[in-house]
Amino acid sequence: MEELQKIAKVNGTPVLIIDHEKIRQNYREFKENLPRVQAYYAVKANSDPEIVKTLYELGSSFDVASFPEFMVVYENIKHLPEKERQDFIWDKIIYANTIKQEETLRKLDQYKPLVTYDNVEELKKIREHCPHAGLVLRIRVPNTGSMVELSSKFGAHPGEAVDLIEEAFRSGVVVEGISFHVGSQCNNFENYIQALQLSASIFKEAESRGHRIKILDIGGGFPAKYHNKVKSFKTLARKLNSEFKRLFPDDIEILAEPGRFIVATTGTLVTKIIGKAVRDGKTCYYLDDGVYHTFSGVVFDHCRYPLKAFKEGEKKISSVFGPTCDAFDTISIAEELPELEINDLLYAENIGAYSIASSTYFNGFPPAKIIHINK
Ligand SMILES: Cc1ncc(COP(=O)(O)O)c(C=O)c1O
Repeated sequence: MEELQKIAKVNGTPVLIIDHEKIRQNYREFKENLPRVQAYYAVKANSDPEIVKTLYELGSSFDVASFPEFMVVYENIKHLPEKERQDFIWDKIIYANTIKQEETLRKLDQYKPLVTYDNVEELKKIREHCPHAGLVLRIRVPNTGSMVELSSKFGAHPGEAVDLIEEAFRSGVVVEGISFHVGSQCNNFENYIQALQLSASIFKEAESRGHRIKILDIGGGFPAKYHNKVKSFKTLARKLNSEFKRLFPDDIEILAEPGRFIVATTGTLVTKIIGKAVRDGKTCYYLDDGVYHTFSGVVFDHCRYPLKAFKEGEKKISSVFGPTCDAFDTISIAEELPELEINDLLYAENIGAYSIASSTYFNGFPPAKIIHINK
């Protein structure tokens, strides 16, 4: 706690502190529990180049969703000899956004990465603008109960999957794998089980039509330990490992795209109270960070970040707002806080994923400063 106050004093607020030792712990926990799975860190969760660098040094692979994200990863390999660089891109980067601009596809083609698709129009674009890529077909799977639902926007219906695979081969591009995403912060492990069963039947049907699929990409969704109702990752990993064994041949490659699991618990935000009012008998605090900034996850990620004070005292329900002129900039209307004053600091833990990643400059307020510790 003293450390947080010290960092805020030296750097000002709002300040997002990223603990790289926690990144290493989370990555190791992922790898140790899922030894068959290659971890492609989903850069979208937090694309800070220092985070990507730490993961690169750990041997991670990467899932990118745009050309700028691709370049954040590329920065770490640009010094390598051409052959090594190309091998890295082929083995360790997947462009896992099923919808790509034509211009992006043209740029990607020279690097020949794995790219995902989930519909015939995208297939036509890939064939025309990025024919050297390896393709991964994303299928739609149940997202029941996940904090962030993705299946309404992405994924081919499992019933049309093999036709889409055939169509790709027929048009001269190569399908390497099948992917899915069970929804982010998935605490309902049944989603994974159903997704694996659907994938296994697509593998089988594709093989019966003469197409051997080599890669299974199980996406993201691995739940971060925000609170103690989150089920254990070990339990999920045990289920996954036994389903891999039961449903898939030993020689297929299994990938995953964990984002939140790797970075959520690594970030702590320190923010300052810049205003205070009493409205209808309730104390309202105004902070120098809000939902247009590091607390963006309150809106986009359906996430809560309990605020903690550095002071003791009897707690009462208060409202907490961000600094902009928009009433939408509301962090919480039911936060339990002691009596606080202007210039007091508050902190929020587990705010490393999908937070600063969607921060804006709305009203002229810049994103929080990022400080890296334990690098
Ligand atoms: C294609 C894809 N892969 C991976 C992820 C990362 O998911 P998570 O942060 O739940 O691990 C996302 C998140 O939206 C995604 O869209």
